[in-house]
Amino acid sequence: MSTALPVELADVQGLVRFGYKHHTEASFLLLRVTDRDAARRWLATVPVCSAETVEPPPATVLQVAFSSDGMRALGIADTIVDAFAAEFITGMANNANRARRLGDVGSNDPSRWRWGVGARVPHVLVLLYALPGRLAAFQSAIEAQCGAGFERMDCLTTSNLDGIEPFGFTDGISQPLVDWQRERVAKDAERRDYSNLSCLGEYLLGYPNEYGGYTDRPLLDPALAGTRLPRAEDAPDRADLGRNGSYLVMRQLRQDVLGFWQFVDRQAGGDARRREMLASAMVGRRRDGAPLVVPADETIEGGGPPGDLNAFTYRFDRDGLRCPLGAHIRRSNPRNADLPPGAPGLVSWAKRTLGFDADALAHDLVASTRFHRLLRRGREYGTGVSPDQALGEASGSGDTGLHFICLGANIARQFEFVQNAWAMAVRFDGLPSESDPLLGTRAPAADGTATDGFSMPRADGAAERITGLPQFVTVLGGAYFFLPGIRALRFLATAP
Ligand code: HEM
Repeated sequence: MSTALPVELADVQGLVRFGYKHHTEASFLLLRVTDRDAARRWLATVPVCSAETVEPPPATVLQVAFSSDGMRALGIADTIVDAFAAEFITGMANNANRARRLGDVGSNDPSRWRWGVGARVPHVLVLLYALPGRLAAFQSAIEAQCGAGFERMDCLTTSNLDGIEPFGFTDGISQPLVDWQRERVAKDAERRDYSNLSCLGEYLLGYPNEYGGYTDRPLLDPALAGTRLPRAEDAPDRADLGRNGSYLVMRQLRQDVLGFWQFVDRQAGGDARRREMLASAMVGRRRDGAPLVVPADETIEGGGPPGDLNAFTYRFDRDGLRCPLGAHIRRSNPRNADLPPGAPGLVSWAKRTLGFDADALAHDLVASTRFHRLLRRGREYGTGVSPDQALGEASGSGDTGLHFICLGANIARQFEFVQNAWAMAVRFDGLPSESDPLLGTRAPAADGTATDGFSMPRADGAAERITGLPQFVTVLGGAYFFLPGIRALRFLATAP
């Protein structure tokens, strides 16, 4: 029985708990501070929706996040800003090594981005969501209110494509189930089964994570915070600025819809059935969202009922005969690869886990998926084009893509790991010369290995392999933000 404290939903920004799917209209304001005092005054009182359930849902929702540049521009003391995670302080685009690891090279190079670099790093991100027909007036009112303290650097608009991302696939199916009840026992030594249930501390600072520990965050002298901040659960003599907050990763990803479908069509020799098959193999799901792995009689902790499009693992598809090992969803969440496969039993487990096993090395790359889950909150932008339209057009899919957003308590261990060690990895799960079929830059790896291949294993052992994949997704901007708890937001707005 858990003795954990209840979660303070009223202090958590709603985006952590809700995707705001009914709020089909959304826009993201990228703001720079021009008048510190006016900016702080607005932030001190701006109405922010919490994670509490409200019936009926509010017509409009506002959420606020800060970059580290933004915290400094608002006059937050360096001692406080510097206590956040190193990658948040440096930022997404300020380090050549990080750019290489994230695949931000070539046409993805930050020097080409529309926003997210130098004076184009947003200080404050304001996320606006609204029920149909309500966004325009809401956005004008908010912009009028914050105009005294900020200049609008950009406004990222979104489109409602009915849950279909621009390549034409149903998106937003797979999400970790956050343990809001705080019942999940973290730190189980040998967790053999894939679970979709994930500790709250993986997404919110101030709560135990999957290691059973508390992720580092700024813990302040209570004299500074008074009663305005909660005390840290793991250090009751400190005020917890991180509690109920989450890091928010944002990347503007342009999708070359025509390029994608025309390439797949060429590979399929114009055969419509084969074209669909190949495109689905690259994603790991059919366009209607059905996984390529047929959900077998598997019960997954935190999974939906049988028939749920997310109730499956790769347990019965070890070799990738149904869902290629390199498919986008298999790279971004290898599910039951927590432990190298093998016979049950402690000796066998120890042997495999300690690496005295031929298969263990290959499986290191996909180890421990439960430490690398992402809560995805992205929104599409631009005009939807069906595959048939894409094949009929001569050129140019316009500017369409995904404003990728994900939340997590540890950017390095969650977003950066998934992007680098799984999506961009050239030898993911023992595959040769590949990277994520959707996200890859196709630039050769540092040792010259090609990354533009894609293999579909076959039962006779000879994989069907295509090469020469073009780059389908280009990064146009991005930044790391902190989405504070609501008390922390007010503290940051008024901190000395
Ligand atoms: C334009 C770029 C992208 C496109 C078109 C795209 C498309 C998709 C689609 C169609 C799905 C399947 C729907 C679902 O399972 O919910 C999916 C799942 C997923 N994607 Fe992406 N994605 C993109 C970028 C990214 C990035 C940058 C990441 C992280 C680095 C990512 C991580 C994931 C994860 C974690 C899943 C769920 C996998 C699972 O649990 O089975 N995606 N994506």
